[in-house]
Amino acid sequence: MTQKIAVLCSGGGSNLQALIDRIQTGHLDAQIEWVVSNNGDSHALERARKAGIEAIHLSAKTEGTSEAADRKLLSLIRDRGISVLVLAGYMKMLPPGVLELLPGRVINIHPALLPAFGGKGMFGLRVHEAVLARGVHWTGVTIHLVSEHYDEGPILRQRVVAVQPGDTPQSLGSRVLAVEHDTLWREVRDLLERIR
Ligand code: GRF
Repeated sequence: MTQKIAVLCSGGGSNLQALIDRIQTGHLDAQIEWVVSNNGDSHALERARKAGIEAIHLSAKTEGTSEAADRKLLSLIRDRGISVLVLAGYMKMLPPGVLELLPGRVINIHPALLPAFGGKGMFGLRVHEAVLARGVHWTGVTIHLVSEHYDEGPILRQRVVAVQPGDTPQSLGSRVLAVEHDTLWREVRDLLERIR
């Protein structure tokens, strides 16, 4: 039976799009039950709607208080039969209780080889700027289980991307992002298979 996943995003949603595309081509047997963004302007919400997926802007603003937003997120997970929760560029800490509802089933994608170049404040171009400033020759993509600390849960999958001479944060970031798009769906597929 096709299992239900849900996706949390804050920004452009290109990783969400990659999941949608792989479901449409039949590579990934999953149904995206809903997409939540804490940011009403997130292009991810637009991408979800276009694909016929319920797209929800959920924040302290929309719900009145952050506690009310947290409660709504917990009920969306509990009441809708979600098997796996994917954080794809989600810039907010998860409310307490989510990890208990879905133990070992909440994953995050990070645009570097954790545990290097991770943690609070390490997002977007800042990651690739730090990689170039440090002069490492290899960076990549990490998918890990989410824990209570930023970017610290057990690592599930990594892919390596070579830093090239003359790379800018932008050029490196776009090569890493392309690898992210080809990596996230594989981990979702394998995780769904493991918990089936
Ligand atoms: C990706 O680089 C992801 O690794 C990070 O945030 C970015 C999200 O990009 N967590 P997008 O919104 O999927 O385009």
